[in-house]
Amino acid sequence: MTGPVVRLRGLSKLYGDFTALDRVDLDVADGEILALLGPNGAGKTTLISIVAGLTRASAGEATVLGRDVVRDYRFTRRAVGLVPQEVNFDPFFTVEEALHFQAGYFGVRLSPARLEEILEALDLAGKRHANTRSLSGGMKRRLLIGKALVHEPRVLFLDEPTAGVDVRLRQQLWAYVRRLRARGTTIVLTTHYLEEAEELADRVAVIDRGRILLVEGKDRLMERQGGKTLRISLGAPIAVLPDGLARLGARLEEDGSAIDVDAPPGGSFGPALAAVATAGLPVGDVETRRARLEDVFVSILGSEGGAAP
Ligand SMILES: Nc1ncnc2c1ncn2[C@@H]1O[C@H](COP(=O)(O)OP(=O)(O)OP(=O)(O)O)[C@@H](O)[C@H]1O
Ligand SMILES: [Mg+2]
Repeated sequence: MTGPVVRLRGLSKLYGDFTALDRVDLDVADGEILALLGPNGAGKTTLISIVAGLTRASAGEATVLGRDVVRDYRFTRRAVGLVPQEVNFDPFFTVEEALHFQAGYFGVRLSPARLEEILEALDLAGKRHANTRSLSGGMKRRLLIGKALVHEPRVLFLDEPTAGVDVRLRQQLWAYVRRLRARGTTIVLTTHYLEEAEELADRVAVIDRGRILLVEGKDRLMERQGGKTLRISLGAPIAVLPDGLARLGARLEEDGSAIDVDAPPGGSFGPALAAVATAGLPVGDVETRRARLEDVFVSILGSEGGAAP
């Protein structure tokens, strides 16, 4: 596949006179993991629902593998797997039955090997014969992920896949998401755990009030928006920042006990450390802190006058 796997152009969604999506343009490349980030009500679920064929756009175009999601919905629905944000399924099935039933819905047979793989990856093997009604919240969410995978979709939409999932299992799910990607699945993920996006995403798209504010490679974004900060804790407090450090834009903690210096993107802390040595400062401890996606995200939304994440 040469073009983007998912292509959105001028996509808008109105509910009455409320604009939930506002002329969204977005490409998702083959085999990537794209994290779609934005505050509550930004339009993430709406966007995903349109691509998955659950909601109709008011204007614009959405294609999956080059096919229009409205005109060719049979094809595109088969190509897409969706883990919905809301947990809702038929409570009269066991876990295994729910997975088989879902496969049937897509007209495929769930092979025993595939069933085992899904149960294993989602840590549901012990609950295979349990009624879905009896599952815990986190288990229900895992079953939703399993159901989205039974027909081996080319594109997987994960709408807050790990909300309410415990820490250990979250790590396990991340590993599984990476495995799916390695096999060629393209993944679009929404999450409020920025750590999750930082961990998984190749690219990040930020959406706020129905508009895409930015789409960029995660590494580039973090590099551009925030480099590293060096924190030098002093053995004894000082009253005034030495000139050599002030010139580098260093900041002295109010009580004089520590100095922070930012490295320019791609730059080094060589000059700052040299200035510390020249000034003969009593260094207690030195640590560096890398900008986190969280800092970047807050600064993007802040600069757009947007809501808090
Ligand atoms: N069926 C609907 N009728 C009216 N308004 C709707 C409907 N569905 C969504 N909206 C509105 O559209 C906006 C976007 O909602 P959406 O669910 O896409 O947000 P989201 O980014 O997924 O938020 P969250 O992070 O809370 O899941 C919200 O203001 C929401 O109230
Ligand atoms: Mg949502």
